[in-house]
Amino acid sequence: MTSGEDEARRRDADDPGQRDLFLVPPAEGGRYPEVAYLAGNSLGLQPRAARADLGEELNAWARLAVEGHFEADRPWLSYPQLLTEPSARLVGARPAETVVMNSLTVNLHLLMVSFYRPTGRRTRIVIEDSAFPSDSYAVRSQARFHGLDPDATVVRLRPRPGEDLLRTEDVTGFLAAEGDTVALLLLGGLNYLTGQLMDIPVVTEAGRTAGAVVGWDLAHAAGNVPLRLHDWGVDFAAWCTYKYLNSGPGSPGGVFIHERHLGRTDLPRFDGWWGTDPDTRFEMAPVSRPLPRADAWQLSTPQLLAFTPVRTSLEIFDRVGMDTLRARSERLTGYLEGLLDEVTRDRPLTGVTPREPARRGAQLSVRTGAVGAGDLVKRLRHEHGVLADAREPDIVRFAPTPLYSTYHDCWRVAEALAAVVPPGPRDAGSSR
Ligand SMILES: Cc1ncc(COP(=O)(O)O)c(C=O)c1O
Repeated sequence: MTSGEDEARRRDADDPGQRDLFLVPPAEGGRYPEVAYLAGNSLGLQPRAARADLGEELNAWARLAVEGHFEADRPWLSYPQLLTEPSARLVGARPAETVVMNSLTVNLHLLMVSFYRPTGRRTRIVIEDSAFPSDSYAVRSQARFHGLDPDATVVRLRPRPGEDLLRTEDVTGFLAAEGDTVALLLLGGLNYLTGQLMDIPVVTEAGRTAGAVVGWDLAHAAGNVPLRLHDWGVDFAAWCTYKYLNSGPGSPGGVFIHERHLGRTDLPRFDGWWGTDPDTRFEMAPVSRPLPRADAWQLSTPQLLAFTPVRTSLEIFDRVGMDTLRARSERLTGYLEGLLDEVTRDRPLTGVTPREPARRGAQLSVRTGAVGAGDLVKRLRHEHGVLADAREPDIVRFAPTPLYSTYHDCWRVAEALAAVVPPGPRDAGSSR
């Protein structure tokens, strides 16, 4: 593989990203000073500017204390509004349709309070069988909250026998046949395990035509692939900002609620004082007066210090633009795919992610069979300084993140995999 190193370096010179804006951790193992960081789908790297931006708010707190709510350079009371327009640009929404608040699972619950309304025959919640566990727990507990049996209420769509990926027709076919029993369709826009990007507009249309509410968990899609949530007619969506959005561990979540639902008085919603009209909030009235905006779903005082890196990060996305990022992402992921093809050809490793760029984002998942994902990832890290992540028992995920990953990082992945996994036959049943 060493022969490809010059080629990788050449590609980096021709097609650089924004790596200089980020802090890349030092490598513990291998022969390069920095890690090859392929885990941005789990936790994005720290933008260099985050420390100074946080420092400003810490200084304001020290200097102004409570007056910082009004007198900080960016007054804390209206700080969340600084995130509204950049978030809307990121997901293809109108500003009134987005808000940053809480965290992802909390937001899914708050949204389901409003949008999961089981009535009559229409009680079921449809998720994918490989939904992120938190989503599965959340929808099951929502069913229970409504006095329903989660086993009967939650439908888990599975790929066809022998296949790893849910086809669009598997979802639309189910909806055509049984859509009149579905109250809520809640899918991952980009599956956390396989890296598959769902056809969000087609599935949304099918769900709504069947009379269901359609929500999306965009944890792995926001900041990874271009989205047009408003135009696609999505009812609601939620995402986190700590993966591709690089806003720090446990950073606040983002929410989209389609304009047609804003200001509806027939929707139940859990209210708190941050959801009332900010112009009258401090009248301390007993009854909330929310504006027709996604802001109405806010409950509590925003966690200012957690919000600050979100602003830092969204500024980078605004400067670079999702379309530019996506174009580099396709080139980088395509390059990694070519290298992985060479390595996996004669090893017991199998690609799982769709091969068509339009059906995936910046992640390639590899099934490790008998090799064991956890051990493999440890060896990649400690012996080669390659940081990827394992989903037990047998999936390793590599995410070349277009803002900061390099072609050389991709080349290091392939070289390290070739060194760690000896050639050998694939497991029976592997398709690629
Ligand atoms: C697809 C998906 N959904 C939900 C979650 C849960 O997010 P949180 O812990 O922020 O609620 C994650 C976390 O990684 C995720 O990847």
